Formats: sequence, structure tokens, C-alpha cells
Amino acid sequence: MSNKQHGFAIVVHGGAGEPLDFTDGVEHAAAQARRELTGAGDALDAAIAAVLALEEDPRFNAGTGSVLGLDGATIEMDASIMDTRGRLGAVAAVRNVRNPILLARAIADTPHMLLAGEGAERLARALGLEPGRPITDEQREKHRKLLKELAGSVPVMPGIDKHLFERFWNYKTPLQLPPGAAHDTVGAVVRGPDGHFAVAGSTGGSSPSLLGRVGDTALVGSGFYAGPLGAVAATGIGEHIMRHMLARTVYGYIEQGMPLQQALQRGIDLIDKDADTGLIAVTKTEAASCSNTHMPTAIIENQ
Ligand code: GLY
Repeated sequence: MSNKQHGFAIVVHGGAGEPLDFTDGVEHAAAQARRELTGAGDALDAAIAAVLALEEDPRFNAGTGSVLGLDGATIEMDASIMDTRGRLGAVAAVRNVRNPILLARAIADTPHMLLAGEGAERLARALGLEPGRPITDEQREKHRKLLKELAGSVPVMPGIDKHLFERFWNYKTPLQLPPGAAHDTVGAVVRGPDGHFAVAGSTGGSSPSLLGRVGDTALVGSGFYAGPLGAVAATGIGEHIMRHMLARTVYGYIEQGMPLQQALQRGIDLIDKDADTGLIAVTKTEAASCSNTHMPTAIIENQ
């Protein structure tokens, strides 16, 4: 791999398995990131700008478009940021916050790196971050559609025993388990013009899931990682991604000098092929994406 430093690079994804019709959304998000780079030029601000745009787009499973829990009422979201200036922040299972990515960014300035649940929400209020919007008709419709569309012979979640949901069910409402799965994350990786790397991600989580479930998007090394050689973001079913600490594993391939597309493909190959999975990454010289299904993606490079 050449050590020559290239210009900036931005890669944004809208979730593995999401329709390619949504590509205009990720292109808009990438344009927001680019605008940020043109201004202050900070890679992390750019990655956050992209994710913020997707949290505001109700088509994506993050922020305002987050999927409803199986009770049709609860929303629990995860988000994270990391860069090569040493900033690392994540939020897990947070409910009443409009833009979890802004909370993850704020957490990076606290003495901690990961806050969850009520404490995270209280911090959001103390910082004046906007509370979540009331559940929209689109979210209810998405939930109804999810339950309906997933009916059939599809396994509940590839590789995960349906009976475990039944055995450990912890919603207040009775068990209502769809025989299929939903899981999307939005994410962005950026190489700044100054050579710094950053990653940001946000998700409404997977469905079905037990109450309080946290996925890969909140866990450093699983859903996201940034280091001196690049930044990596993963999307898919957290339970599969976490087992392989996928983002850090792929970063390890980059450290070994593997070409980026090959490193991403090798990461995808680690995961059960029935589990929709995607990866995006930037290095000093490359920017790429790879998935085992359709995944709206946008790449902007300034060589
Ligand atoms: N990757 C999203 C999740 O599993 O929560």
C-alpha cells in the first residue's frame, strides 16, 4: 500500500438491505459532509453532518425514522463517533432524543465514552438537545408493514433461536414476535484533508429484539473503529457483527496492508451469508464499500 496521502474522502451508507431507491438520501448526506469539510475541514464534523442528515430522513432506521419496538411504542437507539484526534463517544438504548449522534458526540467530551438509558437521556436534556419527536404515522406504518411483511417462513433473525425471544420476553405487552428481521444502521467514514480519520453511526436497532438490547453501533470495534490507518463502519445484525468485532477486525486487515476492497470482502465473508451485512471504510489512499446485499451508498473523493 502506498503511503502517499490523498485528498479528502467520504463514504456514507444507509443500511445493508435498504432499497437502492434511497440512494438520493445518502448522496444528500455525503454532500452535507463535504460542505462541512469545505468549511472547518474537520473529519469528525463531516461524518456527524452526514449521519445527522440521515437521522432527519424518516426513510432510514435512525433518529426520526427509527423502528418501533415490538410493542409498537418503544424506540431505543444507539449511536457512536470516533476519530483520530482521540474523540470517542457512544450512546446505547436511548429513547427520547431526536438526534442520538449529537449525544454521542457530546459524550466524547465527558469523562466517559459510553452512556446508556436514563442517564444518557438526562445528559441530553441538560445539554439542551432536542427530545424525540412524537411517533409519526410513517413510523407506525413502517411498524405495521414490518409485522405484516415479515410473516411467512423467513427465520426470525438469521442464526438466532426464536425460542430465546419467547423465553426471555421483557416488554410489558404480550409477546408479538414477527417471523422475520429488520436491522439497519446509517453510517459515515471520512478522511479529512489534513489526514485525520473519523467514523459516525446511528441506528434504531434491530427487530425483533428484547427491551434494553444494545447492538454493534454503540460498541467500539464492533460497529465502528478509527485509527491512524483509516476508519471503518459496519451495518447489519449486531449479534453477528459483535461476535467478530467486525470493524476492528477489518481495520486489522488494513494494518496488514491488504487492499481495501479485499479487506472489506474478507470481513463480509466472516458473517453468515443469510445475515444482511455491509461495511464502508476509508484509508490513506482508498475509499470503498462492500455488502452481501443491496446497500444505498455514496462515495465522494478528492484525489
Ligand atoms: N446494526 C444495528 C443493530 O444491530 O443494532
